[in-house]
Amino acid sequence: MPTSLNVNSADFRTRLSELLGQVRGGAAVTVMQWDRAIAAAVPPSRELLARASEQATLTELRQNLRSYLNRAAQHTLVVVTEHGRPTAILGPTHLALPHHASPILTGGQRMPRVVTFYNQAGGVGKTSLSRDIAYLLSRRGFRTLLIDHDPQASLTMFLGLHLTSESADGTVRAADLPLAHTVYAAITDEEAALPQPTRISDSLDIIGSTSKLSRASALLMNERDLLLNLRRKLHARSDYDVVIIDAPPGREVLALNALIAADDVVVVTSTNSKSLDNLHNVLEVVDNARSAVQAVEPEHDLAVRLFAVTQFTPNQRHDQESLEYLQNFSQAVPVSTPVRFRSAVFKDAQLYHLPVPAYLPRNPAVQELETLTDEFVQALNLRAVAS
Ligand SMILES: Nc1ncnc2c1ncn2[C@@H]1O[C@H](COP(=O)(O)OP(=O)(O)OP(=O)(O)O)[C@@H](O)[C@H]1O
Ligand SMILES: [Mg+2]
Repeated sequence: MPTSLNVNSADFRTRLSELLGQVRGGAAVTVMQWDRAIAAAVPPSRELLARASEQATLTELRQNLRSYLNRAAQHTLVVVTEHGRPTAILGPTHLALPHHASPILTGGQRMPRVVTFYNQAGGVGKTSLSRDIAYLLSRRGFRTLLIDHDPQASLTMFLGLHLTSESADGTVRAADLPLAHTVYAAITDEEAALPQPTRISDSLDIIGSTSKLSRASALLMNERDLLLNLRRKLHARSDYDVVIIDAPPGREVLALNALIAADDVVVVTSTNSKSLDNLHNVLEVVDNARSAVQAVEPEHDLAVRLFAVTQFTPNQRHDQESLEYLQNFSQAVPVSTPVRFRSAVFKDAQLYHLPVPAYLPRNPAVQELETLTDEFVQALNLRAVAS
């Protein structure tokens, strides 16, 4: 379990040595400011030492603490030395996420459940929820793969996958992920395997995206058989229990491809936008995807299993009415307990490249996300998969 240390505690400077003692003992320590994770200190690994661009003795660290913490938060890796030997690496918060393989599930030859998060409406919270639910599923022991299937690459950016190593002066260079690290080849070339995913925490891997993924669209439109490639390859991955695909908005062919790859669809809706106006269209696209799947797997019942409600403001009449509308609309499909609109929480988590529950573990949003994850597990009957 990572431990944490609060910068605002009166004795923080003296507790620094204690913190480094914990790190020497192999612990990952999250540095908190009020209730927010701002940086992490972890044991030095060969890989981190090679990437680190700065060095500080314990005395230098004490004297310029703010400045080192700020730089660490901005993705500079600082090697902390004691008696000339590296004892810790100070860096961004995600360093403290647990990295060891989870032994909880055996896996066997089962196929993973592939779930696509979708809505035609943009900006309703699809990417944020796919990130946070995938993270919470991984914490519950489901070996989880997240796929960014959107050329906007929001998920990739939200989790900092687009960041290359920082330069000598500590500035971080944002760069496009190479197309070879995305699902592009797996979609467009029948023979190509999925790329090697990036492990971002215990039991959670991700395959990122780039704007160039949109090149797949023309090929998919010309050759409809390609639409089944990703589905086939994902279902062969018995090393995962759940695959979550963050679909692009709209009804373009890449969105259809994300749905055809799935067993289940979660429709993410906010209550403060037009996302409710086009639900019939959303269901129509899911029907099209189901027909495409049933052409090769006649028994398969690809369907919407959950309406996941987010960006909800309880004291707004409009939001309440929208929720009621949704509950009446979807009698056969459960509607989730809403996740509230909390702008700062979601924006800050993005800034620090963490899922909300990793960034602000004690924020009330996390309880809502846990409840939504319970409802997700139940709606998809996932226990049967995990047991
Ligand atoms: N519960 C929430 N409360 C407040 N803001 C939120 C919430 N969920 C998401 N947001 C914010 O809304 C914006 C859009 O979220 P997100 O990118 O997850 O939506 P999306 O549906 O994936 O968008 P797109 O259609 O562009 O892919 C982001 O700035 C995000 O921080
Ligand atoms: Mg998105």
